[in-house]
Amino acid sequence: MKRLAVFASGSGTNYEAIAKACADGVIDAEVVLLVCDRPGAAVLDRAARLGTPTFVFNPREYASKAGFETIVADRMDALGVDLVCLAGYMRIIGEVLLKRYGGRIINIHPSLLPAFKGAHAVEQAVEYGVKIYGITIHWVDETLDGGRIIAQRAFEYDGSDPDEVHRLGQVIEHKLYVETINKILKGDI
Ligand code: GAR
Repeated sequence: MKRLAVFASGSGTNYEAIAKACADGVIDAEVVLLVCDRPGAAVLDRAARLGTPTFVFNPREYASKAGFETIVADRMDALGVDLVCLAGYMRIIGEVLLKRYGGRIINIHPSLLPAFKGAHAVEQAVEYGVKIYGITIHWVDETLDGGRIIAQRAFEYDGSDPDEVHRLGQVIEHKLYVETINKILKGDI
């Protein structure tokens, strides 16, 4: 069975969708580690409920990104992680993780990339008056929300409420992430 690590900084609804799909046999894999860079984040409650081991760290306690990424990579090596899924991990992946896990890290982002990169994609799109929104899953490189696109799904919304766009988008995210992880693990991508 393949082994996944999920990285998250916040609420963790995507983590939960992935972990439940694994538990239900929808994804033929196990989430062996949840990595979180925000002590106290809600995703940690979800991980405790679903029984996923966690590695939680405060980046400010490390002199450099390489410091915490080395510990994370060592943990993942020890667990035999096959695929790393970023799920609202609000941090650019650095050299250490890219060198050791490059080509095995994917990210989900709430826009049709390359439009609206960064932490406020939905708010910026609403501000622009966008009518067709979307979700992107991509391989991770050293740039913010960069890397080759694996999957995208669009939806229409003609309004001005970012919360509503987030709600509509998250329903799609949870399905698309599970489908895409499955395809990658089966070798279809
Ligand atoms: C998701 O909407 C994801 O697309 C976004 O963070 C949210 C996390 O939600 N990621 C980014 O913006 C990456 N730049 P969740 O914690 O409920 O899974």
